[in-house]
Amino acid sequence: MTVVTRGRRSRHGAAVTAAVLAAVVAAASGCAREAGDVGAAQDGGVVHVACGATEEWCAATTKQFAKTSGVKADFVRLSSGEALARIQAGKGNAEFDVWYGGPADGYAAAGDQKLLEPYVSPNAAVIPAKYKDASGLWTGVYVGVLGFCSNGALLKEKGLSAPRSWADLLDPKLKDDIGIAHPSTSGTAYTALWTQVQLAGGDEDKALAYMRKLHPNVLQYTKSGSAPAQMTARGEVAVGVIFSHDCTATKEAGFPGLQVTFPAEGTGYETGGVALVKGGKDPVSARKFVDWALTPQAQEIGAGVKAYQVPTNPAAKVSGKVVDLAAVKLVDYDAARAGAAKPTLTKRFDEEVAQAPKS
Ligand code: F6P
Repeated sequence: MTVVTRGRRSRHGAAVTAAVLAAVVAAASGCAREAGDVGAAQDGGVVHVACGATEEWCAATTKQFAKTSGVKADFVRLSSGEALARIQAGKGNAEFDVWYGGPADGYAAAGDQKLLEPYVSPNAAVIPAKYKDASGLWTGVYVGVLGFCSNGALLKEKGLSAPRSWADLLDPKLKDDIGIAHPSTSGTAYTALWTQVQLAGGDEDKALAYMRKLHPNVLQYTKSGSAPAQMTARGEVAVGVIFSHDCTATKEAGFPGLQVTFPAEGTGYETGGVALVKGGKDPVSARKFVDWALTPQAQEIGAGVKAYQVPTNPAAKVSGKVVDLAAVKLVDYDAARAGAAKPTLTKRFDEEVAQAPKS
């Protein structure tokens, strides 16, 4: 077993605007915000959301939901593995009514543990079948594609260009120069791990062998999936393995030198979900939230707060900054299978590649 973190470096030449970084870091942090007066009665008209999207998107979404529906809403931003753990811990006395955002494989894993309440929203009818669970365990609200986020200046110093394959990431010249989250905490990183399983024809041993080969090049396994975008922007690493929309957002937040590329072998994607938490204290308001989250109006909020995932509602307007799904080679990503494998595969990653970061 090997250690997770090998310390942070700063690199000269990486211009860091503190204010811009603070804004970007805030987008990935985990504090709670309120929309509406949440001090009011908990037995109706209030929805507590475990939110896996960016902090800004979670805030804008709960605010707009409260305004539109009259139902009060608050949220806690949690990475996928953290959300699953918190929902598990709340079994019998649920802390949340709804889980919103974060890859659907986490929802599938939660479903396997009977932590979610199936709900087929009437608004789910327009969402394509590939972006929802048929029994209503979860329904997709956005799609994101895993990619590489590169700091062009750093790569140039090393005589490298932006990686265009998973094999490129294994180049010894990239030693300690890759940032990626840990699959036990992050849905992004689990997407990367399951992608390797798919590319290996379902062979989990081969997938873990790839991650072990990648390990010497990984400077740090972060808790949140989008954190390597900031590491790359700051010049701590040359390449981040993240969802491409998080690189696009960071680039737009003041780091034009960042470049998005995709692996030629094929890459994984997420369907960001929404679901009812079993035993939630306000199932009526929770259903209203799910119904609303599937509307074009709700899904169009993302682009206004630099969240450039693809909406799942075909009637939602799509920003020009959103990735073109048809232009990227995608692996077959079955959230139910990925979710079923998640407990054992992440345990193996902890034991065979690197331990999960401590909070
Ligand atoms: O930053 C937003 C996002 O990339 C979502 O698209 C995704 O569902 C979520 O973060 C995954 O977060 P994490 O990897 O921290 O679980």
